[in-house]
Amino acid sequence: MWASGLRKRYRRRQAVDDVTFTVARGEVVGLLGPNGAGKTTVIKMLLGLVRPDAGEIMLLGRHGTDPASRARIGYLPELFRYQPWLTADEVLRLHTRLAGAAVPAAEQRACLGLVGLADRAGDRVGGFSKGMQQRLGLAVALVARPELVVLDEPTSALDPIGRADVRDLLLSLRERQVAVLLNSHLIGEVERVCDRVVILDHGRVAASGTLAELLGQRELRLRLEGVTPEAEALLDGAARDGDAFVLPIRDPDDVPEIVAGLVKLGVRVHAVEPGRITLEERLLEVIRAGEDR
Ligand SMILES: Nc1ncnc2c1ncn2[C@@H]1O[C@H](COP(=O)(O)OP(=O)(O)OP(=O)(O)O)[C@@H](O)[C@H]1O
Ligand SMILES: [Mg+2]
Repeated sequence: MWASGLRKRYRRRQAVDDVTFTVARGEVVGLLGPNGAGKTTVIKMLLGLVRPDAGEIMLLGRHGTDPASRARIGYLPELFRYQPWLTADEVLRLHTRLAGAAVPAAEQRACLGLVGLADRAGDRVGGFSKGMQQRLGLAVALVARPELVVLDEPTSALDPIGRADVRDLLLSLRERQVAVLLNSHLIGEVERVCDRVVILDHGRVAASGTLAELLGQRELRLRLEGVTPEAEALLDGAARDGDAFVLPIRDPDDVPEIVAGLVKLGVRVHAVEPGRITLEERLLEVIRAGEDR
């Protein structure tokens, strides 16, 4: 799918302001950003639930308004409630019918199994816990064999096992060449499964790219003894973290030379630990840079 130049204004608030991004088949893309950044509004525009003020949307090779593409999209909304008097089985059957998909009952059951609800298939969803409802929501998003899956915070209510299950689910979707757009505040999860990330802030794309592009900055933690003024010069640009020097580096191949240089100057090198900033650190950096502007 791709979206280009999306805009949405609510009264005086520009919720989404010129957002452009793509999700290819077989790719998991993470949509990140602070509360109110516009993530859910973008997702709702993709799905035709909110009308954009401007911009273009293509879904699975068709124009965004084409109902034929909608049937091939799986969607887990941010806030949802199913009819409390229906059983999990019945909810899935209803949504399969609504999608116009011919999914055999056994496959629908298997889908409940995938989200860990196999033994609750016949229970009414009114009695489901929050996490169980979210699991059912995931099953609904996946049951009609979608080619594009849009998940608006699928794991916010899930226990650690459930989160790990969702991670495996996403990886298997990617393997089957499904396109996945994942909005989540659980950055560790996004970092683990996403190929690319789009960071929204104040309705705009504040940063985007592959994880390697976004987290490209590498660093070296050095524990040293006997640092002379000449060695200090060699460590120019390093920050101190306790008794460690943290040196940003451009290329891991520079490491032997840095260490050799230090040793030559009589410094005793106790530890050399390569590191890279986390997605969380990068996200905070991007958002704080936006605040300063
Ligand atoms: N129906 C609406 N009417 C008026 N304003 C809205 C409406 N929906 C969203 N907004 C506003 O648009 C902005 C973006 O909201 P949105 O729900 O897209 O944020 P979000 O990034 O999904 O945040 P969160 O992380 O809290 O889910 C917010 O300022 C919000 O108040
Ligand atoms: Mg939201």
